[in-house]
Amino acid sequence: MNILDLTGKSAFVTGAGQGVGRQIALHLAAHGARVGVNDVDGARAGAVVGEIEAAGGKAEAHAGDVTDFAAMRTIGASFGGADILVNNAGNFGSDPSKLTGRPFWEQEPDEWRAWVDVNLYGVLNCSRVFLPAMVAKGSGSLINVISDAGRVGERNLEVYSGAKAGAAGFTRAIARSVGKANVRANCVAISSTRTPTTAMFLDNPDMAKKMLSQYVIRRFGEPSDVANMVLFLASDASTWITGQTYPVNGGFAFSS
Ligand SMILES: NC(=O)c1ccc[n+]([C@@H]2O[C@H](COP(=O)([O-])OP(=O)(O)OC[C@H]3O[C@@H](n4cnc5c(N)ncnc54)[C@H](O)[C@@H]3O)[C@@H](O)[C@H]2O)c1
Repeated sequence: MNILDLTGKSAFVTGAGQGVGRQIALHLAAHGARVGVNDVDGARAGAVVGEIEAAGGKAEAHAGDVTDFAAMRTIGASFGGADILVNNAGNFGSDPSKLTGRPFWEQEPDEWRAWVDVNLYGVLNCSRVFLPAMVAKGSGSLINVISDAGRVGERNLEVYSGAKAGAAGFTRAIARSVGKANVRANCVAISSTRTPTTAMFLDNPDMAKKMLSQYVIRRFGEPSDVANMVLFLASDASTWITGQTYPVNGGFAFSS
């Protein structure tokens, strides 16, 4: 028996059109789950579904913006109940290329909305859509991808850090609320992981050298590092684990 086998389960992964979310979708599908591949960019979601199907897996593309509750509710109804929800969609702001290290006190309030909308409201919206069926069924696993920025704080990313910490606080609270129904909720807190969005930082040799000096394991993360932890939390290998935040971070910061 393979305790990581997800055959017969369905999983919905947000922001799965590229990067970490794409790898999570591929991984869950490779372990037998039927996967709903969500992304605000429909072409990306479709491409990932193509990859899963080419590998013999089952997947459906669900283009939609996680900040739009009505749209996600419609998508949730068409996907049907999920046994596993991975709230992965997130951003470093509306335009990561503008992340030039401006301190909080020089930012304008209208710059903050993009962080809070996706990284916190996106989690609330999709959890609200998918949790009722899990509670009714008496099983389920909710996994929220947050950031070490939300655990230990990140200079010049104060609002992003706050939104991610908000998602972690929500996860702890909802774990208490749905535990009686045998539904679990956990976070995976990641540090610098190579994706199309982070390549602009991680491929800059000067920045990379400075950043890597903070990691006990001297390499950046790969999406598969995160997908392995998500698979564990999605599977029956973790049925007594809830309300926790697991860092996947090469030792960037430890947990107490
Ligand atoms: N990569 C890292 O170093 C890193 C570090 C810490 C935390 N994270 C978190 O991990 C998650 C994945 O990061 P990534 O680097 O793979 O991101 P990415 O930007 O490479 O990919 C994110 C995907 O989500 C989609 N998306 C964005 N907003 C959306 C929305 N409103 N609705 C639906 N889809 C949306 C994008 O179109 C994109 O395809 C995010 O939550 C991010 O905050 C990443």
